[in-house]
Amino acid sequence: MTFEEMRKLASGYQPAKTFLAALRVGLFDALADGPKDSSALGRLTLCDARAIGIVADALTSVGILHKGEEGYSLSVESERYLVKGSKEYRGAVLEHIHASWEDWSDLEETLRTGSARCRRKSESLPKTDEALKNFIMGMENVTRDTAPKVAGRLPLADRERILDLGGGPGNYALAFLAEAPQAKVYHFDLPRVTPIARSFIEGKEGSERVEFISGDFLKDPLGGPYDFIWTSQILHMLPEAEVERMVVDLAKTLTQDGIFCVHEHFLDDAKDGPVPAAFFGVHMLAATPGGRAYSFAELEEMMRGAGLYKTERIDYGAKPRLLLGRR
Ligand SMILES: C[S@@+](CC[C@H](N)C(=O)[O-])C[C@H]1O[C@@H](n2cnc3c(N)ncnc32)[C@H](O)[C@@H]1O
Repeated sequence: MTFEEMRKLASGYQPAKTFLAALRVGLFDALADGPKDSSALGRLTLCDARAIGIVADALTSVGILHKGEEGYSLSVESERYLVKGSKEYRGAVLEHIHASWEDWSDLEETLRTGSARCRRKSESLPKTDEALKNFIMGMENVTRDTAPKVAGRLPLADRERILDLGGGPGNYALAFLAEAPQAKVYHFDLPRVTPIARSFIEGKEGSERVEFISGDFLKDPLGGPYDFIWTSQILHMLPEAEVERMVVDLAKTLTQDGIFCVHEHFLDDAKDGPVPAAFFGVHMLAATPGGRAYSFAELEEMMRGAGLYKTERIDYGAKPRLLLGRR
């Protein structure tokens, strides 16, 4: 990497914070009904007009906003994804990213102590209801497009009892039901999350085949037997010993021909890439007491330890990848 590239890497926080702060003060909502100059934007967002103008110019420079004679305006994409109330609004996941800012600011201390002084230490979920909703609906924003794509790549057609562990909003549960016509999906999540998932899933196609299980997967019974177990983006929040125990416990709930599928930001076997998975590992270091990204090889070994000897890696062209395990 050249020094110029290093310098660029080091200043990566500047556009990120500019964008996230603008979202939080409602800059995009303020532009929903048409172009505005910085004075009008200042009034509507309760911000200083000079300051908001500087931010709007920066966002224009990267193409999130446009600027013309009538002032600043939304791009097609920012109107679609960043304005609250838009059908395709995806600000929840951006708010969730922003919520980790302080965890990242503590990274030096985390490096020294080895464990994040995580604000959520006693509980794995954000504390306030608003932050929790941003987290869960943030997952919805991210999985809306990928869930049907992933479901299409999985051997689901003859499955009857599917566990969606830490199911979050429920996009995967719904996508699986579309691929597995006789299946029932057991959506397992913490009691504070089940009502959010229920209200998202209810009324959607296949929702009558979803059963909600409220519980803590670290201590409550997991139910079963299941002929398909799906864990998506949950193992990384746990320390290695707990992941190992979880894989063993889940394998015990599998039917003889059952399939265990892990969906994660898997690292390559040397654990030095791909880049998004490597930095996701740092994110887990910063934001959880003991989580990290795991490599395919590590999970394969855990699966073998749990009696699942046939494994298959699947790259479906997104950042997360899949690992299937069978007896
Ligand atoms: C990163 S989200 C992933 C959601 C979904 N599987 C996905 O891929 O979009 C992690 C999920 O695990 C759930 N979760 C975290 N700790 C849990 C626990 N101890 N027991 C049950 N669910 C838990 C969270 O509520 C959340 O829905």
